[in-house]
Amino acid sequence: MTDKPYVIDEMISAKTIAARIEDLSREIADEFAGTSKLIVVGLLRGSFVFIADLVRELDLPVEVDFLEASSYGDSMQSSREVRILKDLRGQIEGRDVLVVEDIVDTGHTLTHVIQLLKSRNPTKLKTIALLNKSTRREVDVRADWLGFEIPDEFVVGYGIDFAQRNRNLPYIGKVRFTED
Ligand code: IMP
Ligand code: MG
Repeated sequence: MTDKPYVIDEMISAKTIAARIEDLSREIADEFAGTSKLIVVGLLRGSFVFIADLVRELDLPVEVDFLEASSYGDSMQSSREVRILKDLRGQIEGRDVLVVEDIVDTGHTLTHVIQLLKSRNPTKLKTIALLNKSTRREVDVRADWLGFEIPDEFVVGYGIDFAQRNRNLPYIGKVRFTED
């Protein structure tokens, strides 16, 4: 599938993303006003561009850490397992934490990460996702802040990949195959 020719149609422009991040970062700064330090946790790898832009708009003392989770389907079961491939470097007990995700799709990844991090007793744990595909949800989970609701399309760019490609596009685009 990945070697089939495709084109990318722009869905959300770089300018629209930047404007949305400005609004979201104001809301986040209000929510965490007075914090001594906000630990911003990026979920690798898809959130790396989003987290970079987000923290530069955030008027708060922040620390940045990363977590890598990988989900894989089991064709025999409807539930999916999520593995932690790279854990945080720092402690989050008694801290304010913001988890930054690229896309909430089935919801398994975010659900698992929230459960894991809550078990470490942060003072406050909030979540933000750039994109949301609510029609694909398999478990009931919602990020506290959402950039954009999108239809059930495969998207790339702004950190998000298709078989590790297209992460460097400055906008979000939808993959369209050009032959079948
Ligand atoms: P889920 O919510 O556990 O199903 O998985 C969310 C993860 O699946 C995201 O963090 C992405 O890495 C990946 N994903 C979901 N939809 C897309 C897409 O349209 N393009 C690229 N990756 C996607
Ligand atoms: Mg991801």
